[in-house]
Amino acid sequence: MSTEIVTMTEMKNHHPRKIADQQKDSSTAQRRWRLLARALSRSPELFPEIDDVDDISVRRFTSFNLLRPLILENVADTESSWYEYSTIIDNDLFDVQIRKINKNFTANELIGFNNTGNVCVWPSEECLAYYLLKNRIICRNKVVLELGGGMSCLAGVLVAKYCNPSGVTLTDGNVTSVDNVRCIVARNSMADFVRCGVVQWARAANALRQTGNNGNRIKSWDAEAVDESRRTDGLYDIILSADCLFFDDARLDLVETIYGWLAEDGIALVMAPRRGTTFQRFAEAALKRGFLTRQTEHYDAKVWSRHLELLEHNHEYCPDLHFPILLELTKQKNTPPG
Ligand SMILES: C[S@@+](CC[C@H](N)C(=O)[O-])C[C@H]1O[C@@H](n2cnc3c(N)ncnc32)[C@H](O)[C@@H]1O
Repeated sequence: MSTEIVTMTEMKNHHPRKIADQQKDSSTAQRRWRLLARALSRSPELFPEIDDVDDISVRRFTSFNLLRPLILENVADTESSWYEYSTIIDNDLFDVQIRKINKNFTANELIGFNNTGNVCVWPSEECLAYYLLKNRIICRNKVVLELGGGMSCLAGVLVAKYCNPSGVTLTDGNVTSVDNVRCIVARNSMADFVRCGVVQWARAANALRQTGNNGNRIKSWDAEAVDESRRTDGLYDIILSADCLFFDDARLDLVETIYGWLAEDGIALVMAPRRGTTFQRFAEAALKRGFLTRQTEHYDAKVWSRHLELLEHNHEYCPDLHFPILLELTKQKNTPPG
């Protein structure tokens, strides 16, 4: 995982529309944005004028090395590469084959919300996957949904393979991501018990708002989208989401979707770095919606020790942007008045 990455906060803060309003930073910001596009597109020739990267904040941190990706040479094609992700926990080997998209993203594609999940497996997804493997009881016999799982849905895929859930649904708002996840599900022989589908939070939340979101069974929330992900027979016991809290426009929709689809006694496990105030704003919105929230930084000894090592030895590691915090959401019990 050596992709050269400029962080999402940098992407957000240097969206070209905003650059126009930030005259004094414009030169550095524009160069940074182009550098981002170049880095992620893996096509340096797109922006040949950028040759001085030293003063621009480029992040190369992409993994806590909890799950190691080994490329599978014999199954690569021009559009994708396959990796075996593996880890050993308590002397047991856990592995899964993951397809990654090899696409040269244009700057325009990167500006849109929906290609961030096609760039890489983000550290929050890796940490969430590892946490769930270490705590396999969480998903045992549970109906599990992943929202915004990107091109890998690594956490949900590993839950399906190793945690004995009673059902798994893997989703993202991006069609390309979901198509890729379908390939992963098929290759790992899970197609008969894992569902995949496009779920865009705004659509899901609007449908929930229209139906009053009263905790009843999910009906047709998105007629236009590919809606295999829809549960027709009840709500989800566990909802997973990794690194999805920084989309300012979609924050309330994500909260609403989780609230509407989570069973009364269910739990949502949300992992994300602080990224400025974005994590906190999500937590506050969740509280306001009626969730009990619990934030944990020290949720796993190995992740914590990697974090401490990185703080000491890796000058590109910035906890605000890279260290995933675990946010647990449970529904506040309705207490009768009086
Ligand atoms: C930073 S990526 C994280 C992907 C994956 N969880 C990971 O950590 O590797 C954010 C994901 O959120 C998805 N997303 C963003 N806005 C969305 C929305 N409004 N509805 C559904 N998905 C959305 C994107 O498509 C993307 O896959």
